[in-house]
Amino acid sequence: MFDEQKKSKSLTPIVISNLSLLLGKTKILDKIKCKIHNKSIIAVLGPNGAGKSLFLKTINGLTPVESGKIKFNSKEINYQIRKEIALVFQKPTLLRRTVLENMQFVLEKKNKLSNLEIMNHLQKVGLDTYKHKPARLLSGGEQQRLSLARALLINPSLLLLDEPTANLDPYSLNLIEEIILDENKKGKTIILTTHDMGQAKRLAKEILFFDKGKLLEQTKAINFFAKPKTKEAQNYINGKILL
Ligand SMILES: Nc1ncnc2c1ncn2[C@@H]1O[C@H](COP(=O)(O)OP(=O)(O)OP(=O)(O)O)[C@@H](O)[C@H]1O
Ligand SMILES: [Mg+2]
Repeated sequence: MFDEQKKSKSLTPIVISNLSLLLGKTKILDKIKCKIHNKSIIAVLGPNGAGKSLFLKTINGLTPVESGKIKFNSKEINYQIRKEIALVFQKPTLLRRTVLENMQFVLEKKNKLSNLEIMNHLQKVGLDTYKHKPARLLSGGEQQRLSLARALLINPSLLLLDEPTANLDPYSLNLIEEIILDENKKGKTIILTTHDMGQAKRLAKEILFFDKGKLLEQTKAINFFAKPKTKEAQNYINGKILL
């Protein structure tokens, strides 16, 4: 516990300043400025195409930015910091191997202890009896749960989850939300995207609301849902299309 807290402190606060991303001729992210505090759970909200997934990828260092900076506790991303961040993609990327081999792949050392740990994590997401099944044969929701278990296995301080429950049935959704809350209690900082307003209310301490590549609001979750500041956020929450 102490170790985890110490670890997560070393990455936070994450300070993002003037972050812009250009793909082709389109400005995907436009001068994003925000601060992410230690041990927070942030929900990134906004309509399709707002830039949420690419925002997560830029934090992970996967997408080179056009301009701006992301500082992790005053440091720019490096190998050590990269190892402390896990991103679970909106569309799971799994190897053409078994569930177990997909888990083993992310571990540097493979021994009896790591196999025990793998089984613990698979059990957490309800996939322990599927360990010899080819991962690509799992259903969409099962693949999503495997991706999360694999991300947790490396025990990152910062967990980036892109629509982690988009394909899940109510039981699995509940299971994953409990894992997210539990991991946060143990010291992880978590940034997730979701279109499920109930989920954002249940999990998030803070909301980042994106629209058309711009960050329109960074607000405490309670205040956001009580009264969003911008018309765009009001319309989004009320299910009105944003033009
Ligand atoms: N490689 C690319 N080249 C050009 N444009 C891209 C590329 N990847 C994504 N985009 C565009 O960037 C915008 C933001 O995409 P992103 O995937 O971040 O949206 P999102 O907010 O996650 O949406 P959703 O809610 O549908 O997941 C979209 O308009 C998308 O079409
Ligand atoms: Mg997305």
